[in-house]
Amino acid sequence: MIRLGALGAGLFFVLALMLGVVQPRDAVAPDPVEEHHKHPQKVEWSFNGPGNLGIFGTFDRAQLQRGFQVYKEVCSACHSINRVAFRDLAAIGFSPAEIKALAAQYEVASIDDKTGEAATRKATPADKFPLIYPNEAAARAAQNGALPPDLSLITKAREDGTNYVHSLLTGYDEAPPKGWTVLDGLYYNPYFASLNIKMPPPLAADDQVTYADGTKATRDQMAKDVAVFLTWTAEPKLEARKETGVAAVIFLLILTLLGYLSYRRVWADVKGPKAVAAE
Ligand code: HEC
Repeated sequence: MIRLGALGAGLFFVLALMLGVVQPRDAVAPDPVEEHHKHPQKVEWSFNGPGNLGIFGTFDRAQLQRGFQVYKEVCSACHSINRVAFRDLAAIGFSPAEIKALAAQYEVASIDDKTGEAATRKATPADKFPLIYPNEAAARAAQNGALPPDLSLITKAREDGTNYVHSLLTGYDEAPPKGWTVLDGLYYNPYFASLNIKMPPPLAADDQVTYADGTKATRDQMAKDVAVFLTWTAEPKLEARKETGVAAVIFLLILTLLGYLSYRRVWADVKGPKAVAAE
């Protein structure tokens, strides 16, 4: 009797388990952030080479200069590029005199020679672009709690960085999905990780900057130019890296050919098994 009872209890558990396996799971509600988050749009960049393959390609100097102009006139109100020195701009076509004049527009921390007190002085070409806020707390206090990151390495810090910066800057136009509440002081942007960004749209209108080379400063153009400039700040040696890669591949091809020719030469006198059998 006890055995029958135990068998019954066992059967009950087995049945319950089988039912559990067979029953469909409750549909999990999709995460609204995941559902509406967008991957950056692909753009053909000159530094990615033909077909956007990323094997060849160089920066467009004029575009880098336009991008720097957008950074300086728009983004630098909130973002630093503290890893870049003024003299680095020589690589994108600035003359030593222009760099000196540009550096002199900035103040950097220093120490007074006579009193030993903290002071400031004009920057020189060897200085880095100064920070905008002395630390994170000061930045957040001035920016309504938000922290504008230093942009020197941002295109490396984000996946698909160049495309990301371009899409982020032009992504404010998209209307939030139905039922989505945009909180006070935030902006809807489907390319930002949380879709709610604290940065107000920095490129709000065409012709926000006036390009010296006559390029029409549409919002899309400005976003592209600054994205390319920030790619250069994050990887100034990109062109040299690609050149080295191509040279290395050519070298290996020649080496392979030489290896094959010497193999033919070394084994030329050795008779194969067929020749031996015929003798
Ligand atoms: C009025 C100040 C302000 C200006 C001007 C501004 N930004 Fe921002 N930016 C912010 C703040 C604040 C954040 C942080 C946003 C957050 O964490 O929600 C931010 C964040 C960013 C981010 C990082 C997004 C991420 O994935 O973390 C990038 C990239 C960026 N800004 C690029 C730019 C560029 C390029 C310009 C110039 C065209 C610019 N910003 C102009 C305030 C500004």
